[in-house]
Amino acid sequence: MEERKGFGSNFGFLMAAVGSAVGLGNIWGFPNKMGANGGFTFLIIYLILAACCGIIVMIGELALGRKTGKGAVGAYKALSKKFKWLGWLGILSAFLILFFYCALGGYCIKYVVLNVGNLFNAGFGSNGLSGADVFGNFMSNQMESVIYGLIFVLLTMLIVMGGVGGGIEKVCSVGMPALFIILLICIIRACTLPGAVNGLKYMFVPGWAVENGVIPKAPNFFSVLSTAGGQMFFSLSLGMGAMITYGSYLSKKENLEKNALLIVIMDTIVALMAGLCVIPGRFALDPEGALGGPALLFITMQNVFDKMPLGSVFGILFYLLVVFAAISSSISLLEVIVAHFCDKARDAGKGDKRKAYSLIAAVAVGLGCVLVCLDCLGGAGIAPMDLLGVEKSGWSDCWLDFFDCVSEGIMMPLGALLMCLCIGWEVGPKVVDDEVTLEGNTFKSKGFFNICVKFITPIAMLLVLAGQLDSFFGFGWFG
Ligand code: PFF
Repeated sequence: MEERKGFGSNFGFLMAAVGSAVGLGNIWGFPNKMGANGGFTFLIIYLILAACCGIIVMIGELALGRKTGKGAVGAYKALSKKFKWLGWLGILSAFLILFFYCALGGYCIKYVVLNVGNLFNAGFGSNGLSGADVFGNFMSNQMESVIYGLIFVLLTMLIVMGGVGGGIEKVCSVGMPALFIILLICIIRACTLPGAVNGLKYMFVPGWAVENGVIPKAPNFFSVLSTAGGQMFFSLSLGMGAMITYGSYLSKKENLEKNALLIVIMDTIVALMAGLCVIPGRFALDPEGALGGPALLFITMQNVFDKMPLGSVFGILFYLLVVFAAISSSISLLEVIVAHFCDKARDAGKGDKRKAYSLIAAVAVGLGCVLVCLDCLGGAGIAPMDLLGVEKSGWSDCWLDFFDCVSEGIMMPLGALLMCLCIGWEVGPKVVDDEVTLEGNTFKSKGFFNICVKFITPIAMLLVLAGQLDSFFGFGWFG
């Protein structure tokens, strides 16, 4: 049978796993959610959740993957009869996230090109238009957004076709350190702008956003908890099998607990750094601009670069950074799907057929991505609310929000909750202990892990899930 090839080194694994975690969620999600939800207080709640849930689920997922040597579907199948379907939830989540992630990744490529145009005063630059007009024009040109979205899908596919060691590891081992350096350059630029200090206050000082009228009222504790929890799952790529899949390629020699801790720490550091790059820029140069979501990245930030000396150079650097971050995440999502089919083919003695499966999966992702791109500014005329016959709301009026709500809001916390129940109550935490302590490694947080995986994490997960459902569907459970 053909050998299942994994990562060549622990550094390569770490860069790939951090690459999966560091993505659009860090850049436009974290800083704004932190500012709007109590600044430093949010950070503390996020860190507590990361310690009691993030690291626990991370260790659990990596251990399941490495123990079984299979992608998400194969791992759950090998482990438990009751939970054998759970891997499919991961594959479905990966598709839904990829649909909108690739569309947004495509927009980021467009903005690199736009800033190159600005640098050379070429016709494909902003042509003196404001950020809002540039984005509006781009959104109303459906063909253009479809083309950029598909370029992003194509790049993702080519890397995954190269395999784990050849494609994913190579790209991430160069891309992630480069991303870090570009981020440092952008932070220095943003934080030395006059007025940048208000951005730091927005992000870190509790209550500053309400006192200064940036947000109307302070959110209550449960909504802060669920916002932090939802952000954490998405940001750490947990609850849908990405880390199970990467764990399945990790060598048995490596220290799993230390790797899990490092991934969580690095992801959180990059999220904070991304905040130091985008938020001070917004407060200094576009004080009325959006603070989150696509508008932060594609309108506010472009306005910031338009007003900054040498702005097109910083614009190119910044959007390149975002493209790197997005692509290192999208390859991990596609790998969740491809790994499963390769495993099946290999088990059937047919070789791994990686190229063929990458192509088929990418075509399916491309179709969903086209749907999201066509939908830009309601263009396609078939919003989820029309199809489902429901009223217009935050999740039903466009495909991007719909896929985001179902995957990030519901399926990821649900996937993590069920994984904890599977490990804590069905197969028992000893499975993880056996895997972590291979080759003489010690499991330093074993006692903590066991309590969390059985009780604390599932309860926190339930609260996060309820809070997410409440905020998406407006049930009013948490006021
Ligand atoms: N962690 C990525 C981000 O923060 O943008 C998103 C993501 C990647 C989620 C991979 C899930 C995943 F499997």
